[in-house]
Amino acid sequence: MRTSLGRAELLVTGSAGMLGQALLGAAHAAGTTCAGVDLPDWDLLDTEAARRALEAVAPSVVINCAALTDVDGCETAAGREAAFRVNATLAGGLARLCAASGIRLLHLSTDYVFDGTRAEPYREEDTPNPKSVYGTSKRRGEEAVLEAHPGALVVRTAWLYGPAGRKNFVEAILRLAREREFLEVVDDQRGSPTHAPDLARALLGLARLPATGIVHATNAGSTTWHGFARKILELSGVAREVRAITTTQLGRPAPRPANSVLDCARLAALGIRLRPWEEALGAYLAGRGGGAAPGVQPGPPAPRA
Ligand SMILES: NC(=O)c1ccc[n+]([C@@H]2O[C@H](COP(=O)([O-])OP(=O)(O)OC[C@H]3O[C@@H](n4cnc5c(N)ncnc54)[C@H](OP(=O)(O)O)[C@@H]3O)[C@@H](O)[C@H]2O)c1
Repeated sequence: MRTSLGRAELLVTGSAGMLGQALLGAAHAAGTTCAGVDLPDWDLLDTEAARRALEAVAPSVVINCAALTDVDGCETAAGREAAFRVNATLAGGLARLCAASGIRLLHLSTDYVFDGTRAEPYREEDTPNPKSVYGTSKRRGEEAVLEAHPGALVVRTAWLYGPAGRKNFVEAILRLAREREFLEVVDDQRGSPTHAPDLARALLGLARLPATGIVHATNAGSTTWHGFARKILELSGVAREVRAITTTQLGRPAPRPANSVLDCARLAALGIRLRPWEEALGAYLAGRGGGAAPGVQPGPPAPRA
């Protein structure tokens, strides 16, 4: 039995996930009517279910957050097959349905489409060269979406955390700092920690603009996972040693780009700027209250104890 859906201006697919939840909150705050669909009630791999969701909601905009984001899990045989089905086939199918009904589509993608060898931040026109199965499936999804729906906008983002109360890297660091004498965190991957509610507000802005193609959207500035962890503890007033380790020492199954900083100049030219990551992190920490959610979000490399 599926949850019923009412008419709304915006439909968020993958609405139970990290960014999906942030989007529902941002839409509510902005007074935008919004509906969400996710597993298990709505399996968007089922084209008929996706079609019924679009018909029931009749949105002017769809923001597709549905994805398989377990970067290491994607490296297994079963994970690989699932990753391409969800991150590429589902995305392309949804784009076809949206194009046929004249619905604007924003599709989320990732910094992991790049190999990380560029010394500078990556621009939208830089050539993707994903190294992981996850990154490859997401790149395939970008291509499928833009081919099926030339009016779609692919939004690449990175290193998401928030809203408060969910498993994420920040909560994992705070939990480990309570449990361990010291932390070990990767210091040879650079990116831009991005507050999902900040990105959600930017996405609502992008939904109203006629921009198509690809745009990069992260909080401003960059750091390593080690730098991010240290800042989390510093801003939380927690004194705990954070030792720097290498990606090789961590030994995760999926390769990650050493540099995946995204150049957000196109976003700025569209009139949208996300605040510096340190400022966003401060706001997250100030707003999270006492109830830390334990665990590590699968996306980022887990801090090692
Ligand atoms: N998290 C990051 O750091 C990060 C970084 C860069 C880009 N992104 C991109 O940003 C987007 C949102 O990421 P996120 O972190 O919010 O992901 P998330 O928390 O994993 O949420 C994705 C949601 O999609 C759902 N989903 C999977 N298969 C589905 C299907 N067949 N039908 C309907 N829903 C389905 C998932 O359900 P289940 O959990 O039940 O599978 C989950 O609730 C993704 O496109 C991701 O690639 C994320």
